Amino acid sequence: MIIAVDGPAASGKGTIARALAAHYDLPYLDTGLLYRAVGTNVVRGGGDPADPDAALAGCAFDDLLLRDAALRSEQAGAAASIVSAHPAVRAALIERQRDFAARPGGAILDGRDIGTVIAPHADAKLFVRASPTVRAQRRHAEMLTMGQSVSVDTLLAEIRDRDRRDCTRDAAPLVQAPDADLLDTSFLSIDAAVQRAIALVDARTAVRT
Ligand code: CDP
Repeated sequence: MIIAVDGPAASGKGTIARALAAHYDLPYLDTGLLYRAVGTNVVRGGGDPADPDAALAGCAFDDLLLRDAALRSEQAGAAASIVSAHPAVRAALIERQRDFAARPGGAILDGRDIGTVIAPHADAKLFVRASPTVRAQRRHAEMLTMGQSVSVDTLLAEIRDRDRRDCTRDAAPLVQAPDADLLDTSFLSIDAAVQRAIALVDARTAVRT
């Protein structure tokens, strides 16, 4: 079984995808981490993420970088959102993601274009969203646990900025696949969101566990 989970920043898609992976015992790939690694690689090398050549060169990152806590920062998220708009960067990362989706026992991937580009044939697709204000508050709380204090207003501005870039780019924009189930987590606890996600996947796949 392949499960695709897409949605904007801090919508809850990562938490939901990880919980689904545990529930269905599937391997999980956070594809945003790949774009974060590319963006961070470019910035650390002194390059400009907006430069297509520098961004493409950044795709040759060492996999150890994927474990670097710095990838979780807002700066890494912003750099990721810039490099991810280059079609050559998306093309360079596509095979790795499709190979993961094609694992014999199935897989779960989260990102922006999983249900539309990476695994359009997925058995179940969730499009997870939440209001920008709720997402900024969540990101704020998450960053406090990492010892980073950024105001909710700053985070809200960054989230709106990233949404605009992700939704308006030509290459694989963030858009709900026609056959994806919408899950709005604005007023749901994590537990309630996960239960709802499991119910939606079960309904799509008729799997009872
Ligand atoms: O965790 P959060 O949702 O904030 O971000 P992420 O999923 O780690 O993604 C960071 C950035 O990478 C996004 O803003 C997108 O621009 C880009 N991305 C993408 O273009 N396609 C994906 N499949 C995943 C991420």
